Amino acid sequence: MALPERVKLVEVGPRDGLQNQAMILPAEVKIELIERLASAGLPVVEATSFVSPKWLPQLADASDVLKKIKKKQGVIYPVLTPNMKGYEAARAAGAEAVAVFTAASETFQQKNTNCSIEESFQRAEPIVRSAQKDGVAVRGYVSCVLGCPYEGAIAPERVAGVAKRLFEMGCYEVSLGDTIGVGTPARARALFEIAAGELPLSALAAHFHDSYGQALANLFAVLEAGVGVIDASVSGLGGCPYAPGASGNVATEDVVYMLDGLGIETGVDLKSLIETGAWISERLGRAPGSRAAQALAAKRGKGASK
Ligand code: HMG
Ligand code: MG
Repeated sequence: MALPERVKLVEVGPRDGLQNQAMILPAEVKIELIERLASAGLPVVEATSFVSPKWLPQLADASDVLKKIKKKQGVIYPVLTPNMKGYEAARAAGAEAVAVFTAASETFQQKNTNCSIEESFQRAEPIVRSAQKDGVAVRGYVSCVLGCPYEGAIAPERVAGVAKRLFEMGCYEVSLGDTIGVGTPARARALFEIAAGELPLSALAAHFHDSYGQALANLFAVLEAGVGVIDASVSGLGGCPYAPGASGNVATEDVVYMLDGLGIETGVDLKSLIETGAWISERLGRAPGSRAAQALAAKRGKGASK
């Protein structure tokens, strides 16, 4: 299949990125990060999570952050909601898009949300029903789609079944997460082909962590299979505290560099994205996690023209 002409990028750095940082940033920095990412042209910026602050102290300021963002017209700012308590708090803070999350691994699901996969659907159902009444868009996530830190290999048919259920429940898009980044290109592609037998390919998103350095290769493989939505995190921030071995997501800068090179439109300005990646990395006291950003910075340092 030909590569898509355009890809929708879903920036997950302010949520997936910051949820796994030892350093808890002030709300003002999180807000500036979200606003900078939207200004760089990202059409969707996942802003935060309305989860238990005991489980995830890094995002305990979710209401404050969501309320204070200066929203850019046309940009969507989804937030994670594990249950009705989270949904109600998100709505009170002005959320117009939310995301529910489950997994293809029973053990991971228990560790991450203290409930079974079946119970996670029971928690998601009232969220989706309320959201439909409220005119709120609901995205769905499936974790551990290419492997689980506790259970090992996960059957693609199982992932496809969970994704189908989220879609049929009312999620407009289902993001398949390689939570611990163990996937390789042929398996990633096969998974999306199998999932596309259960729900429309246009409703599937690829959410690849880069623990094993496979994320870009996996993305190229699923792009060839026709996937048109990619999750990525500025500066490669990311990871789940309940998934041992989960390191950063694929860096948005690297994805944009690759898509630019392939002539695939994203609407994102790479230069301003790289500046944002450098800025947030400095705030976190870490080196930028994007290889493209590092290479372009080194080139500029040597006085090359571009
Ligand atoms: P629980 O302890 O079973 O919940 O946690 P509970 O209902 O028994 O309540 C316990 C306490 O939490 C109570 O407070 C509740 O009020 C409070 P207390 O009475 O003790 O003071 N509580 C809440 N507070 C704020 N917001 C809420 C909320 N719900 C309950 N929404 C729960 C169950 C689901 C809440 C918990 O397990 C949790 O918050 N888990 C979230 C973990 C998480 O955020 N993981 C990372 C996101 S998923 C991910 O990263 C993967 C992804 O990127 C895709 C991929 O890469 O695979 C999406
Ligand atoms: Mg993730």
